Amino acid sequence: MPSAQVTNSKDGATYTTSSGLPVNEPYAAQRVGLVGPLLLQDFHHIDLLAHFDRERIPERVVHAKAAGAHGYFEVTHDMSDLTDNPLLKSVGKKVKATARFSTVGGEAGSADTARDPRGFAIKLRTDEGNWDWVFNNTPIFFIRDPAKFPHFIHTQKRDPQTHLKDADAFWDYLGQNPESIHQMMILFSDRGTPDGYHQMHGYSGHTYKWCKADGSFVYTQVHCRVDGGFKTLNNAQAGELSGSNPDYGIQAMFEAIEKGQYPTWTVYVQTMTPEQAEKFRYNILDLTKVWPHAEFPLRPVGKLVLNENPQNYFAEIEQAAFSPSHSVPYIEPTADPVLQSRLFSYPDTHRHRLGVNYQQLPVNQPVAPVANFQRDGPATYISQGSRPNYQSSIVPLSYKGAKGTLEGSARDYSRDLRHENFIGAAFRDLSEITELDFEQPRALWLYVWNDQQREAYVQNVAGHFGNVKSAEVRARQLSVWAAVNQSLSDRIAKAVGSPTVKPLQCKPAAEAVKFRTEIGLRQRAADAGLL
Ligand code: HEM
Ligand SMILES: *[C@@H]1O[C@H](CO)[C@@H](O)[C@H](O)[C@H]1NC(C)=O
Repeated sequence: MPSAQVTNSKDGATYTTSSGLPVNEPYAAQRVGLVGPLLLQDFHHIDLLAHFDRERIPERVVHAKAAGAHGYFEVTHDMSDLTDNPLLKSVGKKVKATARFSTVGGEAGSADTARDPRGFAIKLRTDEGNWDWVFNNTPIFFIRDPAKFPHFIHTQKRDPQTHLKDADAFWDYLGQNPESIHQMMILFSDRGTPDGYHQMHGYSGHTYKWCKADGSFVYTQVHCRVDGGFKTLNNAQAGELSGSNPDYGIQAMFEAIEKGQYPTWTVYVQTMTPEQAEKFRYNILDLTKVWPHAEFPLRPVGKLVLNENPQNYFAEIEQAAFSPSHSVPYIEPTADPVLQSRLFSYPDTHRHRLGVNYQQLPVNQPVAPVANFQRDGPATYISQGSRPNYQSSIVPLSYKGAKGTLEGSARDYSRDLRHENFIGAAFRDLSEITELDFEQPRALWLYVWNDQQREAYVQNVAGHFGNVKSAEVRARQLSVWAAVNQSLSDRIAKAVGSPTVKPLQCKPAAEAVKFRTEIGLRQRAADAGLL
């Protein structure tokens, strides 16, 4: 039966089955005679349906809707005083990059202009393995205790019964977890509705460690600042686009790259020494705080450029697997418990979403050669050929990291150990809501925003918060805003027709700082050998 070849006019390809057999009637199922029933022998037809039946893989549990592209990262400034990471010491070096930008709460088909943080995920293919930057477009986050993450996300997604988004659940969670207020200030400003995916900044949010071979390190926060500035939509524009063009962000980025208007970012790092961290007003493990730029200036590192659209979105973007645990020599996570939990969660979800061999998919394959004893499993692609599959002659490369060799170094390691004690104590500080949690949100309200931005915030909040039915939920969240600023809370209350409320009561800033200083005091006593 299959004989004459049907060709596709676009690229001249011959139509075949998945096993390569040319098919001359691809758009008709085989029948017995002219009007008879279908045939079981029709592999082409059965294979077509069977493959179609399996086209979907699980969408990401968060960050399902996205746009992506390829490009490169170039190191423009020598970082060798901060880290022995080989890439960051090689000015002029370019590595290939893949980027995926996403909304968080909506499904794969939801609107690009939804009020939501944006994911900002970059995979850098370095000579020492993939270095993934799994960032957001906000410098801070809703939570600082990872145990809250699934609860929090559930309240932002659909109700189990009605299958609707639920304003009561949304604000009920936030009011009961007021460390979210800094993110809620940003989210309901126009920063919560970026103008597309390629005109926004990206931030590590978490504190990381950039280390040197002698065991020393600095704490870092990475900022990717889009050249041309962070462009936002107002609430009305974003709402209109949600209906008229839900794929607005995908389209804008794709077309910009096709036209050669490549999106570019300048990458900066903020650094803090362990000594500075011990004196810093805020906990460096607290993902809800920023480091003031005046105290910790942005230092340029490199340039990120996206200059190539994917040929196949599913293969090159949907199947991309980003994880904060895909790291490179001398770049280390801190003890930030949210970051620590993410190190587990991403590869775990990748095994579920893409399968155990997700690292062998072309978009995820490192350019650095992989050599280890992981073998087989579904969809094995090459799996290291004939290399023995047990402990053999693969020689581990020893590089000295923060946990590296102590011998031959002049460093005062007892100082490092004392800092580890400080960091251990810093965990306690993450559980409590104190007045410190309202300082940075208040600074946005009072000093960063002008009158128009303050009014936009009140209106943006009112449009969503006004849907809350429960008086208790309303009052609790209003008390959080009142702790930021009474007039802010009163204006929202008025806009949604709720009674005004007093601020949430919490430990004063001075007491919270004293608690931290006491940790410092204990440190100094330890320094003096008293503890
Ligand atoms: C305990 C806290 C968190 C947990 C458990 C968590 C978990 C997840 C999971 C399971 C995914 C789906 C990944 C996939 O299917 O490939 C995801 C995506 C993502 N998360 Fe998180 N997340 C957390 C916090 C954060 C934070 C703080 C940031 C940013 C600083 C962030 C940024 C992202 C980004 C950018 C993506 C999309 C990656 C992509 O484009 O494939 N997440 N997260
Ligand atoms: C609260 O914010 C308003 C601006 O809306 C400002 O005039 C007022 O001084 C602020 N209150 C305090 C106590 O800072």
